[in-house]
Amino acid sequence: MKRNTHRPETKAVRGKSDLEKKNGPLATPIYQTSTFEVTDNDEQLRATPTDHFYTRYGNPTNTVAELTVAELEGVDAALTFASGMGAITTTIMALLKSGDHIVAQRDIYGGVTKFLSQWLPKLGIETTFVDTTDYDQHARAIRPNTKLLYLESPTNPTLRIVDLKRVAAIAKQHNLLSMIDATFGTPINQHPAEYGIDVVMHSGTKYLGGHTDLICGVVAGRADLIEKVHSTRTTLGNCMDPHASWMLVRGLKTLALRVDRQNDSALRVAEFLSQHAKVQRVHYPFLKNDPQYAIAREQMRGGGGMVSFEVEGTGEDARRVSESMRLFTLAPSLGGVESLVSIPVLTSHAMIEADQRKKMGVTEQMVRLSVGIENADDLIADLERALEAVAAPQHVRVG
Ligand SMILES: Cc1ncc(COP(=O)(O)O)c(C=O)c1O
Repeated sequence: MKRNTHRPETKAVRGKSDLEKKNGPLATPIYQTSTFEVTDNDEQLRATPTDHFYTRYGNPTNTVAELTVAELEGVDAALTFASGMGAITTTIMALLKSGDHIVAQRDIYGGVTKFLSQWLPKLGIETTFVDTTDYDQHARAIRPNTKLLYLESPTNPTLRIVDLKRVAAIAKQHNLLSMIDATFGTPINQHPAEYGIDVVMHSGTKYLGGHTDLICGVVAGRADLIEKVHSTRTTLGNCMDPHASWMLVRGLKTLALRVDRQNDSALRVAEFLSQHAKVQRVHYPFLKNDPQYAIAREQMRGGGGMVSFEVEGTGEDARRVSESMRLFTLAPSLGGVESLVSIPVLTSHAMIEADQRKKMGVTEQMVRLSVGIENADDLIADLERALEAVAAPQHVRVG
């Protein structure tokens, strides 16, 4: 791993800027072009492997976004995609072949569960799902043809934290590649590559873009792996549009500021909820009584902007609470400057079988919050008022 000594706030803003360059545009230009002109065919051949050939292969605006994420993750290289799902599916198809096997943690984004369990078998790739924090179960699930350990941390929507040192050691011992969906973690709060994870993936739609106006994905890792993924992306064609890349570059400049604020506000929201009589349970890794507080503190700079909780009541109560909020907007997705609320069984995990959801701990009573950058007191006041929508507990009549 190379890298300069700048801190994340600096990398996010100046990631790719060439500080020696004089009289160039300070803001990244948008190379809104599908192709690049050359003077002769020799130059054409030289241009082919570069980002000045054809935008499905690469584009200078995309390169700025990619180098900035690589800097933030502390790895050799990164690649952008048309969506987070595009990044995941392309990377797995690039690194695995028919006959290979995947060990995947159970608590992963529902779209990925669907890809692994319903699509990859058509290509001859099987997946065994394991309990996210039972690492002996991970090791037991490994077969001679296992190639990939697929992880997510913190998990969506249960906010479990994976012990990255332990999973990286399992992968190393069995000669597996490891890949993590680090969308909830952000490169401000955690650096999975430092623990030996090979490929770090983000739905850039979320925190990296940060303004709920963009769909994109990024993978980052060692140059040899990223080169393979690049070749597959070129074939499958799910590259990012240069204008979207420009929006990502702009979003990245404020990533550290936004995440710091979201860390602080989400912790306050989680503390408020954990004291509330109509809340049965709160999931937030930086709450002192969270079962994974110690590992979260070890691996993460902040607990992140996501908080989940279960209401003291029914699924109906959870829905009413989500619909009663005014500042938290009822919408899927996360990671933007605006606070959002959603009901996981109806959104991120709607496509998963009910019994599998149950194993994950995703209940009907669960409400998921994406804490934005609004004033934390205002957000808490909104929650306090919305929780009045939970029906009073039914007292059991005796006799
Ligand atoms: C944790 C996580 N990973 C991946 C994705 C997929 O990303 P995208 O919607 O950008 O394809 C999502 C989307 O919600 C997500 O929450």
